[in-house]
Amino acid sequence: MDGEFLEEVSQGLVYETLRTYNRLPFAAWKHYERWNRSLSFFGLTAPITFERYMKILSEGIEKLEGEVRMKVYFSLKSHKVLVVFQPLPRANVEEGVSVKFARYRRIPDLSTPPFLKITGRTDIVLARRDIKDCYDVLIIGASGQLCEGSFSNVFLVKDGVLITPSLESGILDGITRENVIELAKSLDITVEERIVQAWEVFTADEVFLTHTSMGVVPVRKVENRILFEEEAGPITKTLMENFEPFALNRKENWVGAL
Ligand code: PDD
Repeated sequence: MDGEFLEEVSQGLVYETLRTYNRLPFAAWKHYERWNRSLSFFGLTAPITFERYMKILSEGIEKLEGEVRMKVYFSLKSHKVLVVFQPLPRANVEEGVSVKFARYRRIPDLSTPPFLKITGRTDIVLARRDIKDCYDVLIIGASGQLCEGSFSNVFLVKDGVLITPSLESGILDGITRENVIELAKSLDITVEERIVQAWEVFTADEVFLTHTSMGVVPVRKVENRILFEEEAGPITKTLMENFEPFALNRKENWVGAL
């Protein structure tokens, strides 16, 4: 392996994952701000302006066909920016996915802030090793609270109420999560952001995950518990159906893109 490359990687890469809808980078400003927040833990700010960031993204998108996934990396070693463009991976998740619990807990906030999106976070690296035959694994916090997946946020539905771990639970403030919360409110679904105990996934009526590439992903199975056989529960289905039109119509998701 190239020594210089190894040096770059071993010092850590601060990153963001974006996707396009209709070939435009979705929520690019929110991703840019979140990238900047990760950099601020190192006393740094983004080395490129938002305008330049958008230009780099649109030039890369043009070189591919269809919808695109972009990973924007910042090297803490060289301060170089590297953007990887790939066709957006497609997965058939509508029939529901399986999740399990990660063996290792979330690193306490005082040691590594959950908002820090950097390669090599041991809680995430170890959790991803446990994914194997499931879609994602759920990470539990030091006090037994439910946090998030290794690349997704998690929601429960109980008695018609939409419940999701609050930011104080020690999670990344997912951009899809925020859009889903706002969507649910617009549909008059009651939303509770609070500390959720990990065992609550076993008594929930519905469970789903959210993340950039796939939006709302229904969970069919948690460990050995099957939540549904054929179709996701009604609130999950409503949110799945309405997510795209809602997110596409929200002006703040398109700052600088139109
Ligand atoms: N993952 N939680 C963690 C730990 C994540 O890494 C991510 C994003 C999310 C969901 O956030 P958003 O809705 O903004 O994608 C939650 C990206 C997709 C990744 O790791 O590539």
